Amino acid sequence: MEFARDQWYVAAHGGEVGRDLLARTVLGEPLVLYRTGAGEAVALADRCVHRRYPLSESRRDGDTIVCGYHGFTYDPTGTCVFVPGQQRIPRTARVAAYPVVEQDSLVWVWIGDRDRADPATIPRAPWLADPRYAVVRGMAPLDARYGLLVDNLMDLSHETYLHGGYIGTPEVANTPITTEVDEERGIVHVRRHMDDAECPPFYARSTGIQGRITRWQDIEYHPPCLYLLHSRIAPQGVYPPVDGEDSDAFHAEIVYAITPSTAHTTYDFWAVARDFAVDDESVSDYLHQSNHTVVMQDVAALNILERVIAAEPERYQELSINIDTGGLAARRLLARLVGSGTAGAPR
Ligand code: FES
Ligand SMILES: [Fe+2]
Repeated sequence: MEFARDQWYVAAHGGEVGRDLLARTVLGEPLVLYRTGAGEAVALADRCVHRRYPLSESRRDGDTIVCGYHGFTYDPTGTCVFVPGQQRIPRTARVAAYPVVEQDSLVWVWIGDRDRADPATIPRAPWLADPRYAVVRGMAPLDARYGLLVDNLMDLSHETYLHGGYIGTPEVANTPITTEVDEERGIVHVRRHMDDAECPPFYARSTGIQGRITRWQDIEYHPPCLYLLHSRIAPQGVYPPVDGEDSDAFHAEIVYAITPSTAHTTYDFWAVARDFAVDDESVSDYLHQSNHTVVMQDVAALNILERVIAAEPERYQELSINIDTGGLAARRLLARLVGSGTAGAPR
């Protein structure tokens, strides 16, 4: 699958970007990220214009980066402000500075034609920066193409088989889904409402519910990068009131940012925000550990699939069934985005 350019992608969790230099490759473009003294996140092309030494292997000096090879020095706009051995700085001595927006605790970078970058089009995940929620998060690199992670997240029936004992129970695979595509806004919705389900350990231990539950999974995928899973957990038979707060239920907002790194590698940024037991560190520790384990189960499976796909003859025919409706819709919207972006490197 090709990449969709002229799009915003998550390059890091906000907490990953500090005064140290951080290397990330997004859509095949090497980036160096850091934070200025004023707290502004910066993303520059990670190749010195002189002899292409990675700036991420270099040294930060104040708000500038001093190339570790011969000392070309760049400011946060990517402009070279010092070259060794001469006064005159060549006019072309600059590296690309990528448009960056930090929002909802995520660091978004624009990959493509910078004139088309509009921060208003970045999809939101407000729970991640809302003090009424407690958030755990992480990032797992995959040795697999990003389309495999999109497929994986769009079809949660795999929870029953791949994540049994954590988040999977028989009802997930057994309950049919409904899929809806908002063509205009380019969003895929997949809903699975389980009205009488076993409570998996992930929710039994974090909510304290004993017995069977009502478990709703409402997915919103905003291609290419942002995936939201609104998870509603309540004792069996408890439904949201027609008006007012749904305060007898537990809500987990599960966020994934799916960022292609190279053709065969992907960043899996994940976060779990909850509106219950927000001050309970032991619940945070448990959910962090559990979701990490679940993510690593997916990583192991997708890395295997990547090797299978890389070795197979062309034109292998997949067989799709009802559970794949959301994933197929996602593929179609992604293909549309790939077709609408501009080609070529950023300026
Ligand atoms: S490669 Fe950076 S200064 Fe020479
Ligand atoms: Fe999974």
